[in-house]
Amino acid sequence: MNLQVGKPVTGDELIGREKEIRTIKDLLKAGQSVVLIAPRRFGKTSVLFEVMQELKKEHWFTCYVDLFSVPTLFSLAERITEGVLSNTRLSRLFRKFKDNVVELARQLQIKQEFEGTEFVLGFAQKDPESWQLLEQSIEFIDSYSGKKNARVLAAFDEFGDIKKLDGDRITKLFRSKMQVQKHTAYMFTGSYETVMNNIFIKENAPFYRFARIIRLGYIDFQPFFKYLTHKLEKEGVPYKEATLKRILKTTRGHPYYTQLFLQEYMLIYKVSEKNTLPSFHKIMEHVLLSEQNYLEQFWQSLSSSKEERIIVMKLAEKNASLYSSINRKDINVARGIKSLTGKGVIIKQNEKYLLADPLLEIWIQKYVLR
Ligand SMILES: Nc1ncnc2c1ncn2[C@@H]1O[C@H](COP(=O)(O)OP(=O)(O)O)[C@@H](O)[C@H]1O
Ligand SMILES: [Mg+2]
Repeated sequence: MNLQVGKPVTGDELIGREKEIRTIKDLLKAGQSVVLIAPRRFGKTSVLFEVMQELKKEHWFTCYVDLFSVPTLFSLAERITEGVLSNTRLSRLFRKFKDNVVELARQLQIKQEFEGTEFVLGFAQKDPESWQLLEQSIEFIDSYSGKKNARVLAAFDEFGDIKKLDGDRITKLFRSKMQVQKHTAYMFTGSYETVMNNIFIKENAPFYRFARIIRLGYIDFQPFFKYLTHKLEKEGVPYKEATLKRILKTTRGHPYYTQLFLQEYMLIYKVSEKNTLPSFHKIMEHVLLSEQNYLEQFWQSLSSSKEERIIVMKLAEKNASLYSSINRKDINVARGIKSLTGKGVIIKQNEKYLLADPLLEIWIQKYVLR
């Protein structure tokens, strides 16, 4: 069975993001940087990878850094440099000798491409100057590509995580460098509205008006339905259209959960004895089981604020009006909504607030509200 849920998807496996991808590519080609905002698991990394792949085919350089997995300033600089070098053969050399100044210098000297990359020797120094290396690595993105006559897409995934390092100082440094670069377009992604707001949107934000904001929503019914039927047919798994429609109605086209339902569907079918079709309820049971830890933790992360918890519960109940159903002096609904939106827990769709995570809604109905 060929379906790994959780890994970013590209190419034929990437469903329903054509419009966003076209817009992003057009902007990047026009030299406009882009920031992609959506809650976790909405498919940001997938869109980012797809854009990178497509631009690579058009001979762009790319440099990808996932801030989530970057522990220190030094490693941020290192990842950027490695990312830039990954477009040419120098990257192998760098990885191999980066802990050995003498050897790295010797190796670099015999390469014609050496010019302009001398700063990488700083990575092998005993007491590396992290700030200086970061500054040089950001400059390097543009200078190296320029030297090679290529345009470059520098992609920073989960950029909001920059705040775990010296966020303010780093974003200021980025800003000052990026402004003067000629060959580089930047793409950022982030899960937390508030954090991204503070970096990109607020008037005094360091990247104010620097990048165009694109938001990802749920995936449309039609393309996702077609994908589900194709996938099942390819695997030789029979289905009832009604079950697939019910799945999509439940997930609302949330990419991660839809894939998870599909995966559970196929797994249940393959172990079922007389090849009976899995019922919707059975699939749901399995999905809830596999997401149990995640959902419990998510719920607990809200427990520090009674206000937020109550609003989330009311939303899960699908009450017509939050304001009239929460009639308590100690709950400030507007404030709660703002903070939950900022965390990406709720989103606004057709003028109505929703829990962004459709399974959290079901989980709350099942385990909290009863
Ligand atoms: N456009 C899409 N079409 C199909 N599946 C998708 C799509 N986007 C995301 N997915 C599914 O959702 C999962 C999470 O996607 P990912 O890109 O990692 O999200 P994010 O970076 O927003 O957390 C992927 O592993 C994949 O199974
Ligand atoms: Mg991601």
